[in-house]
Amino acid sequence: MVQGYIKGESAIEDIPILQVTRLTKHFPVHGGIFLRKQGVIHAVDDVSFDVRKGQTLGLVGESGCGKTTLGRCIMGLYPLSGGSVKLHGQNINDVTGKEMKALRLKMQMIFQDPFESLNSRHTVGEILEEKYIIHNRLSNKKIGSVNSTSRRQEIVRLLERVGLSEQAMAKFPHEFSGGQRQRIGIARAISLEPEVLICDEPVSALDVSVQSQILNLMLTLQKDMGLTSVFISHDLAVVRHVSDLIAVMYLGKIVEMAEAEYIYSRPMHPYTKALLSAIPVPDPQAKRERIILKGEIPSPRNPPDGCRFHTRCEYVMDICRQEVPLLNSEESLKYTGTGDSNSPHMVACHLYSI
Ligand SMILES: Nc1ncnc2c1ncn2[C@@H]1O[C@H](COP(=O)(O)OP(=O)(O)OP(=O)(O)O)[C@@H](O)[C@H]1O
Ligand code: SF4
Ligand SMILES: [Mg+2]
Repeated sequence: MVQGYIKGESAIEDIPILQVTRLTKHFPVHGGIFLRKQGVIHAVDDVSFDVRKGQTLGLVGESGCGKTTLGRCIMGLYPLSGGSVKLHGQNINDVTGKEMKALRLKMQMIFQDPFESLNSRHTVGEILEEKYIIHNRLSNKKIGSVNSTSRRQEIVRLLERVGLSEQAMAKFPHEFSGGQRQRIGIARAISLEPEVLICDEPVSALDVSVQSQILNLMLTLQKDMGLTSVFISHDLAVVRHVSDLIAVMYLGKIVEMAEAEYIYSRPMHPYTKALLSAIPVPDPQAKRERIILKGEIPSPRNPPDGCRFHTRCEYVMDICRQEVPLLNSEESLKYTGTGDSNSPHMVACHLYSI
């Protein structure tokens, strides 16, 4: 029997749908007159996590820490430098041809700028129809086998689901506001009922007033469709609303991961504490000391040895400059008392391992 529990309003089942194991992505840097390889950018290094059915993992960190690269690696859009991505236990990089395309249809991505990701020369109806055509090709059905009336009805239902009317079908993306365009992007992503949704900063380009409408829509759809999601954002305040689990990234590595409530109530990693201290507190009486990090983020071409955060950490010790701290659940549990064996509170910091 599948064990399930209720988190917020969504049902989470105890099955890892998405398994990311030791994922590493390095981009080569070429230079000089012969464009020789001169080094690599350590965009993502040794990242592991599982996301269970119905769960949303929020992925946060500053610009350039590797969030988009990780999202694109999960989608199979970049070859990996190391590690693996499994969907239902199937390694997505082990399959080829139609099998690969079919597997990838089960994972869809929502982008920060819906305008860039929507083909401006096509109407919304044509954009949304495209996926059905691809799907039919993959399942060896004739392209015309879903007759156009029933497909049209499906598209109308899809538009209604994301809060748009039938009239939207005949219009072009530029005729919509930013929020409406993101609704179209969401409709396209869910059109074939994917199991996993990778959302890359889906509300960062929108006005604050529109952000919560889109976040609410995404929450409703996730709940109704039982979607498993990875929600990428540089803003801890945004991911809080949608995430069950949160992973904090710094310079290509996850430095802390736990259920969302523990990240906000008992942050452990000095970097997470600094990020949290920058979120405005709604109560003006409540005091929170802002932690200003010294220095800049080092270049991902030459990440610091040991703990990548050591050049900016106020608690830095000798060991931090030499040994890479591991994302260690057992050691951290002793300190936090938060999380459990199913969902441990993990932190990669020597403060919690000595
Ligand atoms: N295609 C690429 N080729 C070379 N380097 C890349 C490529 N894509 C990303 N990078 C580099 O990898 C690092 C991580 O970039 P990435 O876009 O994944 O970060 P991010 O966390 O999504 O940042 P942002 O919040 O600004 O979107 C950066 O140093 C970036 O310059
Ligand atoms: S390992 Fe050391 S440098 Fe890194 S966050 Fe912990 S205390 Fe700071
Ligand atoms: Mg990005």
